[in-house]
Amino acid sequence: LRLGVLISGRGSNLQALIDAARDQDFPAEVALVISNKADAPGLERARAAGIPAIVLKPRDYADKPSHEAAMTEALDAAGVGLVCLAGYMRLLSPWFVARWHDRLINIHPSLLPAFPGLDTHARAIATGVRFHGCTVHFVRVEMDEGPILVQAAVPVADDDTPDTLAARVLVQEHRAYPLAVRLIAEGRVGVQGNRVAVRGAGL
Ligand code: GRF
Repeated sequence: LRLGVLISGRGSNLQALIDAARDQDFPAEVALVISNKADAPGLERARAAGIPAIVLKPRDYADKPSHEAAMTEALDAAGVGLVCLAGYMRLLSPWFVARWHDRLINIHPSLLPAFPGLDTHARAIATGVRFHGCTVHFVRVEMDEGPILVQAAVPVADDDTPDTLAARVLVQEHRAYPLAVRLIAEGRVGVQGNRVAVRGAGL
């Protein structure tokens, strides 16, 4: 399965997918990286791995639909079958979400449906939850909504700061995202309404 990864920044989840794909057994490869920001450090990670990486800046397009059409054209040209949002900090339009229906996934740093949106780690601490984590889900039009593929939980420590908690969650993100991609690439994932069913053993 050929992956298109959309980024805006650091790209550590992109790196996790690149690293996973180095394994001969991994049924997917990163075919194209698109950033909406020219200075996203993740672009260097792609280039270092010999993966095509392009910058498509929304400002260079008349409107959101034409920017997303350009992204779709590039993804199609690269033979992408699954689009992975990895720290892509723009909301996608209903058109793009429909165009890639059930072929578009996102990783979010909370146990959804808790804490959609930004600053999830600070909000988890402020709320006093004992467990926090990450979620990989299919993308729907509403931000941070959609059928859940994989979640991983971590405990919240009494002395956690947003940074220490984020670091603990990030370790799990880097496991969860390749796992979710693997399940899809192996054809083991079915979407039924809000729910994902995973066939076969060995999740
Ligand atoms: C991650 O925490 C991801 O869950 C969120 O944005 C962050 C991106 O980090 N959507 P990176 O760019 O993958 O390092």
